[in-house]
Amino acid sequence: MTTHPPPRSLETEGLTKSFGGVRAVDGATVTFRHGRINALIGPNGSGKTTFFNCVTGMIRPDAGTVTYRGQQITGRPPHRIARAGIGRSFQLCRVFPRMTVLENMLVAVRPARLRDLVGGAGSPAETDKARRLLVRVGIDHLENVEAANLSYGQQKLLELAGVLMGDPDTIMLDEPAGGVNPALIGRIGTLIRELNDEGKTFLVVEHNMDMVMSLSHHVVVFDRGRPIAEGPPSAVRADPRVLEAYLGI
Ligand SMILES: Nc1ncnc2c1ncn2[C@@H]1O[C@H](COP(=O)(O)OP(=O)(O)OP(=O)(O)O)[C@@H](O)[C@H]1O
Ligand SMILES: [Mg+2]
Repeated sequence: MTTHPPPRSLETEGLTKSFGGVRAVDGATVTFRHGRINALIGPNGSGKTTFFNCVTGMIRPDAGTVTYRGQQITGRPPHRIARAGIGRSFQLCRVFPRMTVLENMLVAVRPARLRDLVGGAGSPAETDKARRLLVRVGIDHLENVEAANLSYGQQKLLELAGVLMGDPDTIMLDEPAGGVNPALIGRIGTLIRELNDEGKTFLVVEHNMDMVMSLSHHVVVFDRGRPIAEGPPSAVRADPRVLEAYLGI
């Protein structure tokens, strides 16, 4: 019996973005499949965040295409890419420090201009959903606390809960464990696994190799703006090209 791989979720073809003379993303052609926890790893400066920014419309690529579930989304603005089903978090966590946890949840899915108008107010249905998600990530007891007073790990959980407010099919996380204490790293890992069991596709940039190796189904390794190796964690860990990119051996 042949087993077919899951359908393609997110694909890029020749994706390229330079900053001055630096080719941050350099002709990256990658396929991430539906229903998997995909990891994107690589040394500092290898273009992972720039790749995320090109995919999610924060940055317009110089060349190449981004396709999501068979639909071209290259160069679309971030809110339209979000509407297509892709949610994301940021390497440097983005929450509004002077808003409460609950207000942050309610503004998470609002366009910037509406955010200024209505602030953190929400309909009863939205508020209900926000509270359920805060319970899910384990920070519901902090609902009325200003985000600035949360630990960095709690802010990351808040950001993840905010991403879930948009009901994304695919969730892109840029270093979810970065700067987070070990107890909360465990909780973030469990959440990713549970959400994946419920059908969400993940694309996770992460330097914490224990997390990457234990969590992901498929690992893509970036070096100098493009993939140099990919496969299941066990194969990638033993790949000489990966050791060379990381360790220079
Ligand atoms: N806005 C920018 N302007 C100029 N250069 C940039 C910009 N963003 C990224 N770069 C450069 O592009 C390259 C790739 O950076 P990027 O942040 O995408 O790497 P990364 O893989 O996410 O690294 P890290 O693991 O440290 O987060 C680096 O050389 C970086 O200095
Ligand atoms: Mg980065």
